[in-house]
Amino acid sequence: MKILVVVGARPNFMKAAPILKAIAGFNGMLGEWAEGIQPVLVHTGQHYDTRMSDAFFADLEMPQPDVFLGAGSGSHAQQTAEIMKRFEPVLLQEKPDVLLIVGDVNSTLACALVASKAPSRPAIVHVEAGLRSFDRGMPEEINRILTDQLSDLLFVTEESGVRNLRAEGVPEHKIHLVGNTMIDSLREYESCADRSAVLQRLEISRRSYALLTLHRPANVDEHDALVEILEGLSDLSTAMPVIFPAHPRTQAKIRELGLGADCDRCLRMLEPLGYLDFLCLMKNARIVVTDSGGIQEETTALGIPCVTARDNTERPVTIDAGTNVLGGTRRESIARAIRMQLAFKGKRSVPELWDGRAAARIVGILADRFLRPGAVPTGDATGQIAENAR
Ligand code: UD1
Repeated sequence: MKILVVVGARPNFMKAAPILKAIAGFNGMLGEWAEGIQPVLVHTGQHYDTRMSDAFFADLEMPQPDVFLGAGSGSHAQQTAEIMKRFEPVLLQEKPDVLLIVGDVNSTLACALVASKAPSRPAIVHVEAGLRSFDRGMPEEINRILTDQLSDLLFVTEESGVRNLRAEGVPEHKIHLVGNTMIDSLREYESCADRSAVLQRLEISRRSYALLTLHRPANVDEHDALVEILEGLSDLSTAMPVIFPAHPRTQAKIRELGLGADCDRCLRMLEPLGYLDFLCLMKNARIVVTDSGGIQEETTALGIPCVTARDNTERPVTIDAGTNVLGGTRRESIARAIRMQLAFKGKRSVPELWDGRAAARIVGILADRFLRPGAVPTGDATGQIAENAR
């Protein structure tokens, strides 16, 4: 069984890395004579610079991609089209049995679309399926809805995703609640992150700083929207340092909008950080303020208070069970949410199946579904796959 695994943008790497390891773990369990799973790793190049891509391959101990498409940046239409054009010949040449895509970025949809119309159509497998913000103004929401419609197997991180897919008429046999592979990476690398020297480098100590990330176009592309958020952070920034590793698009927008001096006044702006340094900063923060999807989940798994600078989330379990609250995008609502989170003492629970074994469950199901009968060990092999993947 040949499986093409696609990554493209920063949030894909920590979701795909555990799946590649679980495939290796599964093959190791079969021994050298049995037919295993042959992975081919494709990097679309949506994110291409060292800080957004290479650093993550190193930190997550990922193999180098077998194929690099070098699609790069552009408008949504240009980027999606470029990835499709470059991905099609690879798919035609490799003829995989399965295409595995993760998350909700343009690379995810572009490759699903190509595969769905290919002459030798592979089974399309979507990891992190079913999440919905119900906000079609978000490009990621369009990518999620369309990718799920095209997929044959949908691996879901939280119960809300299962409900959403059922409501959209996706047949039950396609849906599998397996947990969160991003949290597999977090659990695996938590202790490595503890050895990061980033706190010393920045001369900050545990629980004495806030961590900020912002990159959503709706928050950073317009002058007034960005000013609202900066104003919302002003009390926090007088109480403690606000560490802000800024996404390249955010850095460019801040310069373009002439807000550099305002940011410097209240934030400590840094270049984007690698996976381990960022994990260390999240784990030791007093509070995290973000507009990222993944960071809502990672702070939930770590039990760190998080304020999401958005009006909605496609990850409601981070609010119901986790440590996240929606702060909206207005200065008063953000400041109020921050005050509330700073006063919050308790630690909430970690969502069901966010236990570090999601990738092993996924590979177990793929093997069951796509390998020849008899080639697969009987019974639930999740534990052994997870063990072998280490
Ligand atoms: C993409 C994803 C978003 C994800 C985010 C994480 C889509 C629709 N969006 O948004 O869901 O949360 O990645 O980072 O796929 N740039 C660089 N270096 C890079 C990559 C990008 O400088 O390696 C700059 C370029 O100026 C580019 C801009 O960032 O134009 C935006 O990159 P793009 O991939 O289009 O979208 P993101 O905002 O990163």
